Amino acid sequence: MRIGVLTSGGDCPGLNAVIRSVVHRGVVDHGDEIIGFEDGWRGLLEGQHRELTLDSVSGILAQGGTILGSTRVQPSHLRDGVARAKAYCQEIGLDGIIPIGGEGTLKAARLLSDGGLPIVGVPKTIDNDIACTDVTFGFDTAVSVATEALDRLKTTAESHQRVMVVELMGRHTGWIALHAGMAAGAHAIIVPERPFNIERVTAVVRERFERGKKFAIVVCAEGAKPEPGTMHWEEGSVDIYGHERFTGVATQLSMELEHRLGKEAKPVILGHVQRGGTPTAYDRVLATRFGWHAVEAVHKGAFGHITALQGTQINLVPLAEAVADLKTVPAERYAEAETVI
Ligand code: F6P
Repeated sequence: MRIGVLTSGGDCPGLNAVIRSVVHRGVVDHGDEIIGFEDGWRGLLEGQHRELTLDSVSGILAQGGTILGSTRVQPSHLRDGVARAKAYCQEIGLDGIIPIGGEGTLKAARLLSDGGLPIVGVPKTIDNDIACTDVTFGFDTAVSVATEALDRLKTTAESHQRVMVVELMGRHTGWIALHAGMAAGAHAIIVPERPFNIERVTAVVRERFERGKKFAIVVCAEGAKPEPGTMHWEEGSVDIYGHERFTGVATQLSMELEHRLGKEAKPVILGHVQRGGTPTAYDRVLATRFGWHAVEAVHKGAFGHITALQGTQINLVPLAEAVADLKTVPAERYAEAETVI
């Protein structure tokens, strides 16, 4: 078979492990030819690709980023490109396409799949917000990076009797904030699923200082917002991909806490460092398993599905189900964190 693979959307540790796994399973076990599209959907729409051999994926298992490059594509651009992409796939004799991506990529994959392209998606995102899969690779790495940063911030915060307000990635969901916050013992964890009450955040931090503690760590996901009307709040605009531009929850919240508490409060925005560098062992294994199962799915003709981790098994789930809703932090998981807001 001739199988195409591409990586699209924000990058994520483990993408190269999937690419390598697709090439190994396809070439070694099935005698497939694997081609890699450059820079995500753009490579498919503009016909830019190269053959991926065992040599070209040698040594990439532990590498962060993606050897294929990645871009975001405007949904309208993709809608207009379905017929062209289909004709191109037929022209170059593709039997299957494996797009590796998050919410936006999988929605695009569904569009192309509904348009008749032979697609098996592989979910990725550090945000861990794709429905139907227990975990996405990249999440474990992001949580490890964030946890290490929080541990380090604790020592400097204590030396200076400061409040550290640490902003972690997560536009719509607070999985990274919840897990890293729990792992590091943060004193308040704020997620987008649950607008925060500034009075309550202030009370939690004040109570710590009154107990003689010398610092506090407040963790918030970048998409977190206050309860409407409870504090001054700058809203952001929307970019060309339809993503909200954030105005800095950590900056706004730290200014407000400093004002209310009379204590120094510093914003720390961890940003893209959470997505960079080598994947953890967990993410390498999950990514490798997803790649293996995606190739099997193409050989079975199970198009219009994604690979999904359910318990310990990798199952195939219809694309339509996977993109129907985001997987948000449920109230009962949030309640398990020692101090939540
Ligand atoms: O979806 C993954 C993610 O890292 C989000 O957590 C974050 O909001 C976004 O991508 C950042 O995107 P960009 O790399 O385009 O700034």
